[in-house]
Amino acid sequence: MGRVSEPSSTPWWRDAVIYQVYPRSFADGDGDGMGDLPGITARLPHLADLGVDAVWLSPVYPSPQKDAGYDVADYRGIEAMFGTLDDFGRLSERAHELGLRVVMDLVPNHTSADHVWFRAALAAGPGSPERARYLFREGDGDAPPNSWRSVFGGPAWTRVEDGSWYLHLFDSSQPDLDWTNPEVVAEFEDVLRFWLDRGVDGFRIDVAHGLVKADGLPEWDHDQALLDGSAATGERPPMWDQEGVHEIYRGWRRVLDAYPGDRMLVAEAWVTPPERLARYLRGDEMHQAFNFDYLRAPWRAAELRAVITSTLVAHETVGAPATWVLSNHDVVRHASRLGYPAGQEPTSGVGPDDPQPDAELGLRRARAATTFMLALPGGAYVYQGEELGLPEVTTLPAGVRQDPSFARTNGEDTGRDGCRVPIPWEGGEPSYGFGPGPAGWLPQPELWGRLSVAAQTGVAGSTLELYRTLIARRRELHLGRGTLRWHEIDGGDVLAFTSADVLVVANLGPDPVAVPAGATLLVASGDLDAGRVPTDTAAWFRLP
Ligand code: NOJ
Repeated sequence: MGRVSEPSSTPWWRDAVIYQVYPRSFADGDGDGMGDLPGITARLPHLADLGVDAVWLSPVYPSPQKDAGYDVADYRGIEAMFGTLDDFGRLSERAHELGLRVVMDLVPNHTSADHVWFRAALAAGPGSPERARYLFREGDGDAPPNSWRSVFGGPAWTRVEDGSWYLHLFDSSQPDLDWTNPEVVAEFEDVLRFWLDRGVDGFRIDVAHGLVKADGLPEWDHDQALLDGSAATGERPPMWDQEGVHEIYRGWRRVLDAYPGDRMLVAEAWVTPPERLARYLRGDEMHQAFNFDYLRAPWRAAELRAVITSTLVAHETVGAPATWVLSNHDVVRHASRLGYPAGQEPTSGVGPDDPQPDAELGLRRARAATTFMLALPGGAYVYQGEELGLPEVTTLPAGVRQDPSFARTNGEDTGRDGCRVPIPWEGGEPSYGFGPGPAGWLPQPELWGRLSVAAQTGVAGSTLELYRTLIARRRELHLGRGTLRWHEIDGGDVLAFTSADVLVVANLGPDPVAVPAGATLLVASGDLDAGRVPTDTAAWFRLP
């Protein structure tokens, strides 16, 4: 409690654990089956008990919800089904009372087609200043202006009644803005101020690498996928990571720096290699970026070690902290992803007809992966429900799926609904405490009863108690501010490092590994085997 007001020379975000709330699925205050802001506010003590530093809310703005809120119709309001601006004020106030910072999700690459600007653009016609806020172009006869494809499948262009086409890198309901237009730049700086004035502590920037497109929109005839910013060719695609984005973030940084306190920007940028990502984190740009190379690394020591090293080296050059993440609302939950053979972990969508994960193996590895991750220096992100060990729900029937990528690919891409199922809080039947109603917006599996917050609280060895212990110890030991030094342990597929006088060992190989004599156990993801770290287990030790 009260951490927010503690004076500190180190900005809070440098070593923070930030918890992602997916508002549709966190807690439903009014019983309509959809999560909402009063529901979140009532459950904030869970986050304080977990010990995280901040809550990041996926978008809660007015939106037709064609992409679950990543299609924003009004950047200065709250979607009615989530509540009101007053509800947001109460959430923010309660979070701050509990010592939790609040991070909003800003979606600047595209608006919703319901945004007043896009409606005006359609009404005003070709060549108008209203259309110049978006990327309208003429096609080639009946063919679109170029070959670009949407990340959600199909062409990235949609034709309007008068024959012009508009660009949408995502769903056709998400038209891309033209960031070379000064009006767009000014509008978003004002939106930032709107929320900063309401006390928010930071922003997660959606598709931060996509705002500026290469001049002339050159051809790019390749499939696009979420989290996959670079193409098979190794060339930089003309819609991602263009030089012009950096000027935008310098402007935003000036806006944030004019406010008291340590306000922060975190980039969702699917950019590789890490040196390119680090360019978003130069001293006058953003503060943090998500580390998707880490999330996508297979469960093998050599690859993980290489990703960690290259991440740390690249971030060091710009003086920014690294971040680490294993799950979010776009990828298969890591308790299921890691239930596949190493190197075959799927990131996007698993359906009932796909090969199913080994649930026991997945959970064991997920606990080890988190135990390892939370010892790494820098910031860490945790996605709601992973503290309960929730698996991906792979059995959702087609009829309930809502992710636009499912419909746009005729079901070929299963989509992301499986990681978005409302989370269980208590009780033995739906909605497992999610809300006063009997069901959430996606059906919850029976397993949810055993995995609820209430079922795991106070239970030694539960995944929830493991997370609580890890986060508390990480803070006491200052691991987020540590310096990683690789430590050699003989034999097997092992990752080991020291940081802040702690030895961290993750055993990814089949045989137990011994640790140095005199090392005393601090916390482990599973039982040790006569002092040795068994397969798919991670542990922290105090060195003698
Ligand atoms: C990334 C978000 O995380 C994802 O959920 C969304 O669909 C796309 N950006 C488009 O906004």
